[in-house]
Amino acid sequence: MKIKKVVIIGSGTMGSGIAAHLCNANIPVVLLDLKTEIAEKAKERILKSRPPLLFESSKIQNLKTGNITDNFDNVADADWIIEAVVERINIKHEIYKKILKARKKDSVISSNTSTIPLKILSQKMDNADKKDFCITHFFNPVRYMGLLEIVRENSNDQNKINLLKDFCEKKLGKGVIICGDTPGFLGNRIGVYAMQIAMTEAIKMNLTIEEADAVFGRPMGIPKTGVFALYDLIGIDLMSDVLKSFKKELPEKDEFQKLTDGIPIINKLIDTGYTGRKGKGGFYRMNKVNNQKVLEALDIKSNTYSTARKVDLKIDKINLLDLINRDDKYGNYAWQVISKIIIYSSSLVPQITKEYNDIDEALRLGFNWAMGPFEMLEEIGLDNFFKKTGNIKNNPFLENLKNKNIKKFYDQRQKYTDIETLGKVKKAVTKIDINDSAEIYRFSDFNIVEFNTKANALDYNSMDALMKATDKPLIIINESMQFSAGVNLNYVMEFVKKRDFKSVEKFIKYFQKTCEHLKYSDKLVISAPSGLSLGGGEEVLLQSNYVVSHTNIVMGLVETIVGLVPAGGGCKELLWRWTQTDEAKNDPDFAPLKVFDIIGYAKTATSPLEAKPLLFLDDNHEVIINRNNLLPMARAYIEQNKNFKPPVKCKFKLSGDQVRKKMQKVLDELYNSKKILDHGMIVGKELANVLSGGDTNLSKEISEEQMYKLELESFMKLLETDKTQNRIVHTLKTSKPLIN
Ligand code: NAI
Repeated sequence: MKIKKVVIIGSGTMGSGIAAHLCNANIPVVLLDLKTEIAEKAKERILKSRPPLLFESSKIQNLKTGNITDNFDNVADADWIIEAVVERINIKHEIYKKILKARKKDSVISSNTSTIPLKILSQKMDNADKKDFCITHFFNPVRYMGLLEIVRENSNDQNKINLLKDFCEKKLGKGVIICGDTPGFLGNRIGVYAMQIAMTEAIKMNLTIEEADAVFGRPMGIPKTGVFALYDLIGIDLMSDVLKSFKKELPEKDEFQKLTDGIPIINKLIDTGYTGRKGKGGFYRMNKVNNQKVLEALDIKSNTYSTARKVDLKIDKINLLDLINRDDKYGNYAWQVISKIIIYSSSLVPQITKEYNDIDEALRLGFNWAMGPFEMLEEIGLDNFFKKTGNIKNNPFLENLKNKNIKKFYDQRQKYTDIETLGKVKKAVTKIDINDSAEIYRFSDFNIVEFNTKANALDYNSMDALMKATDKPLIIINESMQFSAGVNLNYVMEFVKKRDFKSVEKFIKYFQKTCEHLKYSDKLVISAPSGLSLGGGEEVLLQSNYVVSHTNIVMGLVETIVGLVPAGGGCKELLWRWTQTDEAKNDPDFAPLKVFDIIGYAKTATSPLEAKPLLFLDDNHEVIINRNNLLPMARAYIEQNKNFKPPVKCKFKLSGDQVRKKMQKVLDELYNSKKILDHGMIVGKELANVLSGGDTNLSKEISEEQMYKLELESFMKLLETDKTQNRIVHTLKTSKPLIN
C-alpha cells in the first residue's frame, strides 16, 4: 500500500482541516459531504482560515469536492479513506457500509472519532475488513497540532498500521502515537481530566476564572488559554458532549467519573447560547462599552460578567517546585491540580499504555504543554512530591517509585519515534552551559543553543549564549512553541523607564556584533526555526549560514509596528539579499525600494513557501514538515559541510538621496490617504534613511559596519520618542499595534 489518493467523508472542522493538510503534502484528496455545496463551503473556509491551514493558497489545487451520492466512486481507487462525519454512531456505521462496498482491497479506512471506541465503530465489520480499519485521531487545527493518535487493536493488519504511521510521520509531519482502544485514548483522557480538575478545584477554592487561568497556564508550562479560555475556544457544547461520552465509556470506578458531570453552570451557558467564542461568548466574552471592545469574565457564582482582570503572578520561567510551594492560594491551587493530574495519569499505567512517556508526549503534541505529568513529577522531584502528597495507595506506579527510594526515574523522551529528536539528544548530553535566557548543549562535534525565555524573547544573555557557542558548528533550535518573538521589549523598556538609553545602545551593539559573528565566524551556524521567528528572531535567521525551517513558521521584520526599525542587521541583510537579484542589477534603487516595502508594511510569511519570495529565506535553506527532523537535518548538513568557509563580506552601493526621494513619495501618499499618521511618517523616514544608505551616492561603497551604524542610529532616535514608547507599551499590554 502506498498512499497516493485520499478520500475524506465529512467536510466539517476536522474533515476540512485534514484535507488542507494533505493538500500541503501534495497528496490528491477528495472531500465529500452530504451535498457538494457543503464541501465547497469547506474549501472556501480553508482558503480564508487564520492562521492559515495551507502552506500557500495554490496548494488548494490538490483538493476536489463532491457529495456522497454522485461522487462516491472516488472511494474505489483511494488508498486511504477517512471518515470525519458527526459523532453519531449510526451515521458512521452507514458510511462504513458504503465504503466497504466501494473500496479497493488494499486500502486503509480510518475514523477521526474522538470518543467512540474502535470496537464499537467496527462491530458490524467482518474480520477481513476489521484488519484494515483503525482510528486516526487528528487534533484541531490539523496543520498546527503535532499529535496524531492511531488507535488499533491486535486484530489489525499491523503492517498496514505501520505504513500509515510512517506516512503520517514523514509526509504529514505528525508525531504519531500508537494507542490502545481505551476511552479518550491518551491525549484527551489526561488532557480533559486535567481541564476538569482545573475547573472544579478553582471553584472549590473560590478562585476567579482569571486567577485559575493565570495559574493553570504559563506558570505550569500550559498555553495561556489556561482552562476557562480553552473551554471557550473548543466550544462549551462540544466539551459537554465529550464529557457525556467519557461518562458512558469510562469504567465506573475511574476517578474521572467524579468529574464527568462538569460544573453546574455549563448547561445554563449552553442553553442561553453562550457556547464559547463561536457563540455569544462563554466564560469570557467581548462586550462593547462606549463603543470600545472590552473583554469581560464570568463570575461563576453570580452568573454575571465584569471587566476581565489581568492576574500577573510575576513568573517569567516555569518552576513547578516554587509554584507549588508558594504560600498563597495560587500555590495551593497549583499543587491540588498538578498532584491530582500526576496521580491520575500514573494510576493508568500500564492499563492505557505501557510507556508513560507516551502520555507526556501526547500532552506536549496535542495540548502544547511544555511538560507532561510524568515530566512534572520528575521536575518537582520524587522526594518533594512524596513529602507533600498524602495517599498514593492503589497506585502501583507511584508506590513502586516510592519504595525504590530513588531521586530520578525518567528515562528516554519521545519514544514514539525513531527520529533522533532534540528531546532525545538533550537528555543524553553531558555538558551544559546555562544563563538566564538560554542553554548551550555541548557535544564533541557541535553545539546547540536553546533559548528559554517567554516566547524566546531575546536579550543580552541570549546573545551571550550565541557568542559563546560558536567555538564549534552551532545549531540554534528549541522545543518551545516559538523560535523567537523578537527582542525582549520589556527588557528594553526597563532601561527606557530609567532614561538609561546608553544601556539599550550597548545591548543593540552587542546584538549586532553577535549576528555579525554568527554570519562570519569560521564555524557553520544553522538555525532551525518553528513557530514565530519575528523581529530579532528573524535577524538571527537572516544572519545564520543555513536555515532548516519547519513548515509552521511565521517570519517577518515587524519592528515598524512598535515604531522602530530592525537594528540587529535585519535591514542590512534583507537589503543585501535583494541587491543580489537580477532586477537589482539593472536598477540600483530596486532593492532598497523592495525592502522598504517589506519592512515598512511589516510583511510576514506564514510558511517557508511564503518566506522565500520575500527573501526571508534564501537558497541556503531546506524545509521540513516533521518538526522532530529539524535537528537530524541540521546535523546532517554540518556533516556534509565539513569544509565550510564563511561568506565574503558584503559591500553596498546605494543612491542615498535619490532613492530616499522615491521612498518619501510613497510615504506622502500613505500619509495623505491617512494610512499612516504623524509617527508613521517619522518611522518611515528613518527606515528610508537606513535603506538608502544615509549620506551616500552610487559612486561610494558602504560597508556592513556602516549599515549597522545607520540601523543603530535610527533605532535609538526612534526609541527616544514618546510615540515609539507609547507604541511599545501598548503592544506589550494588548498584543495589538497602536497607530499614532
Ligand atoms: P463537524 O460538525 O464540524 O462536521 C461534520 C460534517 O459531517 C458536516 O460537514 C456534516 O455535513 C457532515 N456529515 C454529516 N453526516 C454526513 C454523512 N452521512 N455523509 C457525509 N457527511 C456527513 O464535525 P467535526 O468537528 O469536524 O468532527 C468530525 C469528527 O471528528 C467527529 O467524529 C469528532 O468527534 C471528531 N473530532 C473532532 C475534533 C474537533 O476539535 N472538532 C477533534 C478531533 C476529532
